[in-house]
Amino acid sequence: MSRFCLPRDIYHGKGCLEELKNLKGKKACLVVGGGSMKRQGFLDRAVNYLKEGGMEVRLIEGVEPDPSVETVMKGAEVMREFEPDWIVAMGGGSPIDAAKAMWVFYEYPEVSFEDIITPFSFPELRQKAKFAAIPSTSGTATEVTAFSVITNYQTGVKYPLADFNITPDVAIVDPDLVSGLPVKQVAYTGMDALTHAIEGYTTKAAWEMTDMFHLKAIEIISRSLRGAVANTKEGRKGMALGQYIAGMGFSNVGLGIAHSMAHTLGAVYDTPHGVACAMMLPIVMEYNADCTGEKYREIARAMGVEGVDQMDQETYRKAAVDAVRRLSEDVGIPAKLEALKEEDHPFLAESAHADACAPGNPKDASVEDLTALFRKLM
Ligand SMILES: [Fe+2]
Repeated sequence: MSRFCLPRDIYHGKGCLEELKNLKGKKACLVVGGGSMKRQGFLDRAVNYLKEGGMEVRLIEGVEPDPSVETVMKGAEVMREFEPDWIVAMGGGSPIDAAKAMWVFYEYPEVSFEDIITPFSFPELRQKAKFAAIPSTSGTATEVTAFSVITNYQTGVKYPLADFNITPDVAIVDPDLVSGLPVKQVAYTGMDALTHAIEGYTTKAAWEMTDMFHLKAIEIISRSLRGAVANTKEGRKGMALGQYIAGMGFSNVGLGIAHSMAHTLGAVYDTPHGVACAMMLPIVMEYNADCTGEKYREIARAMGVEGVDQMDQETYRKAAVDAVRRLSEDVGIPAKLEALKEEDHPFLAESAHADACAPGNPKDASVEDLTALFRKLM
């Protein structure tokens, strides 16, 4: 059986932030990150829309990039005191991911972080609040997914939490919010989104419905990312759309080891998630190729490679991987990770092997396989 779960409402388009007026409730906790939403005036606008809709608003500000368990617990405490019936999270992946986890501990104070590490083990949410997500980056797609990534800095592990309970009720995707995103962020989050689309397309649980989302996402992202990095309107708009189409797919089938390895690199070396994904993706695609049937032909086609129907298996597989490498290079992401140390390989490989994304990979990767793949980054 396959389950397909999405937010009940997705608003998309310029100015749709205003939809906040129409949320029905009494109190909203608005969770944001480091201040870019405030500086650009979007925070005030969001607060005003919520108030116009008759809500009392409490802010939870300053969620850091790669949010910690401590930040989550502190936010949950504020929520328990304020008792919101809406949690509204606005910003990059981090405040939205943190707010999703806060939601769990707001509704279930007795639950511990360890209790929810196992995928699909969450208690039933929406007993106290519903959740609206408003992204300001074009990559994680957390506004439409069942995932949240929280870091335990004590153990140096990034946990991808997964449960359909944390798929938001409402996603508000307003391209105005991503128009001010710095070029580097656009490149990083864009390659993260491409990695979602390609890993989601080739993951073990993929089926026709999710293939449809992933292939379309690969096409839109490949067509839009260079333009988005060059700050064209078309490019930014395309990425805002392509990234969450990828999200709608992978949220329902999971990812693979490019993500397991990227989570590990992020936790150990602070490598930005999109950079780690971009570096791992072509290496992992080569490794997975013999378990993906004809799918690389479709990836190559979606990425604009011409003449794929005339190509033999080896040629189209190489064409797909090359197209990914070219895109990554064109948006300024290096292929090698300088910080990587040989002596770290055993820990990295063990940690990636234990990551919740690993079982979805089309080919079962052993710790030895993962060690060899990390080596290719040097
Ligand atoms: Fe990702």
